Amino acid sequence: MHHATDNQPSLLLAMGPGIAQRLFTDRHRTRLAALARTDPYLVAHDLAAPDPQVAAALAEAEVLLTCWGATPLTAEVLDTAPNLRAVVHAAGSVKHHVTQACWDRGIAVTSAAAANALPVAEYTLAAILFAGKRVLHAAARYRALRADHDWREELHGAGNHRRTVGIVGASRIGRRVVELLHPFDLDVLLYDPYVAPREAAALGVELAPLDDLCARSSVVSIHAPQLPATRHMIGARQLAAMPAGATLINTARGSLVDEAALLPELASGRLHAVLDVTHPELPPPDSPLYDLPNVLLTPHIAGSLGDELHRMADQSLDELERYAAGRPFADPVRPASLHHSA
Ligand SMILES: NC(=O)c1ccc[n+]([C@@H]2O[C@H](COP(=O)([O-])OP(=O)(O)OC[C@H]3O[C@@H](n4cnc5c(N)ncnc54)[C@H](O)[C@@H]3O)[C@@H](O)[C@H]2O)c1
Repeated sequence: MHHATDNQPSLLLAMGPGIAQRLFTDRHRTRLAALARTDPYLVAHDLAAPDPQVAAALAEAEVLLTCWGATPLTAEVLDTAPNLRAVVHAAGSVKHHVTQACWDRGIAVTSAAAANALPVAEYTLAAILFAGKRVLHAAARYRALRADHDWREELHGAGNHRRTVGIVGASRIGRRVVELLHPFDLDVLLYDPYVAPREAAALGVELAPLDDLCARSSVVSIHAPQLPATRHMIGARQLAAMPAGATLINTARGSLVDEAALLPELASGRLHAVLDVTHPELPPPDSPLYDLPNVLLTPHIAGSLGDELHRMADQSLDELERYAAGRPFADPVRPASLHHSA
């Protein structure tokens, strides 16, 4: 009724506890309140069993602004949100909460996956450059030796001049990594079954079959989505193809790597790894991944963290502004692409 006279959509925030405080600054809340009819301090943690205030806001809401931990939007939840037209997700993948029932009802969906891709690409760039320089190895050896040593002799095979980097998956993140690598004297190979040679040429990379990429790269970085087709795509054969001293970087998902095949390659010292994700996540307390000197293990922090959440908030509010102005989303999530995306 309100929106006949007022083009501000009614909006409800829905995400896990503690997230809105980290996602929004005061500036974001002010902008949100100017763009939509909403209580910028009311955050629905549970849409399936809502308290009366949330239930009332949900019954009104034309837009849900979601982030990590949002309740899955099942048909039952959607039945309590009869005015819902759009979901603006202030994080990456929408697969956890946007269900087939949303697509069936024609709800428009956008995500901040592009904003979330940037910090992952930055982490990866740092990991690639440090891998080339063998920083991890040198630091571990220095710590152990604590003595004068001929480092230039020991590290003579290292460096970032004309080294080959293999990128697995021209995803949003994979493409950003390729862009970030442009200023460096590195040769980039790409494996992606969805990318044609012309497109690869436009990206400035050489397409290669996966096994070939592994054999030719001294750093292999994984950026494909978690899908049935990508489970264990980096297996014993791909790992064996990687040259001695090569580094595997995984910021995608643990399931893409056959960890049972990776562990002996790491334990023997033949390969190095930078792992932001594992399977399972967390690794068991006795996992060698925590202790191996040639493994850099981080707790799934490559994606948006700290102030980087504000970039996802910015992208989401830009999309909300388009929606409120009657324009289409700049970065819509299309259901047809979900079978090959994160
Ligand atoms: N570590 C973190 O904090 C973090 C944060 C964000 C995303 N991620 C992960 O990073 C990965 C990339 O995310 P995104 O949002 O850039 O993905 P995306 O949805 O943009 O990726 C889709 C693309 O991946 C490529 N692809 C699909 N199947 C492939 C295959 N079998 N082999 C190679 N390439 C294939 C295709 O080009 C496809 O278009 C995902 O695994 C995601 O879960 C991790």
